[in-house]
Amino acid sequence: MCGIVAYIGHREAYPVILKGLKRLEYRGYDSSGVALLNNGMKVYKKQGKVAELEETLVGKDLHATIGIGHTRWATHGEPCDRNAHPHTSKNGKLSMIHNGIIENYAQIKSELIKKGYNFVSDTDTEVLLKFIEDIHSNNGGSLEEAVRIALKRVVGAYVIVLLDEDNPDTLIAARKGSPLVIGIGKGEHFLASDASPIIEYTKEVVYVNDYEVAIIRPDELILKNLGNEKITPFITKLDMELAAIEKGGYDHFMLKEIFEQPHTIFDCLRGRLDAAAGTITMSGIQQYAEQLMTANRIIMIACGTSWHAGLVAEYIFEELTRIPVEVEYASEFRYRNPVINKGDVIIAISQSGETADTLVAIESAKEKGAIILGVVNVVGSSIARTSHAGAYSHAGPEIGVASTKAFTGQLAVLTMMALKLGYMKGCISEKRYMHLLNELNDVPEKVATALLQKEAIEAVAHKYKNASDALYLGRGYNFPVALEGALKLKEISYIHAEGYPAAEMKHGPIALVDDQLPVFFVATKDSFHEKVLSNMQEIKARKGKVIAVVSEGDDSANQLADDLIVVPYADELIAPIINVIPMQLLAYYIGVAKGLDVDKPRNLAKSVTVE
Ligand code: G6P
Repeated sequence: MCGIVAYIGHREAYPVILKGLKRLEYRGYDSSGVALLNNGMKVYKKQGKVAELEETLVGKDLHATIGIGHTRWATHGEPCDRNAHPHTSKNGKLSMIHNGIIENYAQIKSELIKKGYNFVSDTDTEVLLKFIEDIHSNNGGSLEEAVRIALKRVVGAYVIVLLDEDNPDTLIAARKGSPLVIGIGKGEHFLASDASPIIEYTKEVVYVNDYEVAIIRPDELILKNLGNEKITPFITKLDMELAAIEKGGYDHFMLKEIFEQPHTIFDCLRGRLDAAAGTITMSGIQQYAEQLMTANRIIMIACGTSWHAGLVAEYIFEELTRIPVEVEYASEFRYRNPVINKGDVIIAISQSGETADTLVAIESAKEKGAIILGVVNVVGSSIARTSHAGAYSHAGPEIGVASTKAFTGQLAVLTMMALKLGYMKGCISEKRYMHLLNELNDVPEKVATALLQKEAIEAVAHKYKNASDALYLGRGYNFPVALEGALKLKEISYIHAEGYPAAEMKHGPIALVDDQLPVFFVATKDSFHEKVLSNMQEIKARKGKVIAVVSEGDDSANQLADDLIVVPYADELIAPIINVIPMQLLAYYIGVAKGLDVDKPRNLAKSVTVE
């Protein structure tokens, strides 16, 4: 939710900020803006994507070596120029960008109105900025001090960066609950919501922690807590290459990321799964092996696509480890006073590692004494750091807003965890363990084979691109795959789609079936296969259009399906990682056929750092 970039040093700030905003656009793209210090404060804002801001600034004198920039995903106030960031103080000397939500802004706003402040925007950001300004002008101390005082009163989540006309060699930033990375260069500093705007300039970064305030000058980075005590910055080396965040010849990031999956899954398995030796090594969670072995219950918490990974994992963990598993939407879990007992283990699943609901759910479970294991993609992210232990999904930077390669990475990690645990607990035989280990090892190759179906899938996409609704059905391990297929279609093509357990379809959704409705079946060979074929019959009998994802060599759906998409056969526990590939491609090609911006679908954001 919202991307922030700032620069201070010896370069031209605007090009650094602009490029950074483009890289962070996945976080929100309804408006953007920059503020630069060059003979006074210059603020430029524009509704729409960053390219639209760029266009309006052509020909302007943008010379400055310090500046801040923002790309927005609206929370308070509609997307428009007026509500875009940076916001400006009453005296015009301060500009501020903000990512997060100030929950008690209404109270603070009414106090400020009584003091004579006017508000030009509907945002909570302008309220916080004017609150800081008010404290600063009344107390007369430093701006940094005013920031600390203001933040002690604020309820909510934020990353803020302030630009001050009276201190043209200093940026002030602070964080609670939203991400902030500071890149350290030679005589320069780069600030951003994630490392992607920083990577081409420096690999040395500091991840700012909650309740920390940073005072940043070209040659100096001071970190303090809200009590004004200095904190030594912990410098981390980025393990990421620039190529990983560029399109590399693909039309869209989403397509690139779908096609990267044979490699990303391989990277995820590499160094962990050794099929020849029959071992799985997960050093990140090794220290919690005992607690996992004796766990009474596992609770998976996640949002969106990551929640679907949790659902697949529920089937796999229960089958292999016999530990009861619950899968919870983080946003519900955090507010319903969940029962957490000694011996419960929480597995938090997140691509970004910054999803606000998941983060807060983790904090509350931690307070109740639960052990938190994170399955996270972004290295060094907040969830990765707040979990007791975890395993990265190693999918690399995912830029397309709809999650693809992160999902298959999560499934690979969770399957390895379940397999290892089941074997250690003696719940599965050596033979089954070795069989599944080999099946998992074969996944990258099978995913590559599934991707070869791209033309067939594109043809199916063209056939159904004008549908107004779609149904996705599957059973068992493939039920969550159906949910994920429906979610992908909604996100990318704006077609209303529902995922359902194929049998449950009889209890409602079947009423929707007519000769116009495409019904996508995940119907690969597994223990539910015959039953899925019966469900297919039920749709066919009502003249629905059946599109079936089937296993290579299986012709049992040939007479029933209008269209077939063939994928390599895999053991049913492993199959979801392969079966989701056609779902991703279908959504992608339908979105493209409809002329939509598949990398930045309307209203969505990749990293949801507000509740
Ligand atoms: C957003 C993204 C989804 C993602 C979800 C959870 O809605 O658009 O793709 O699945 O957040 O995000 P996380 O980073 O926690 O996996």
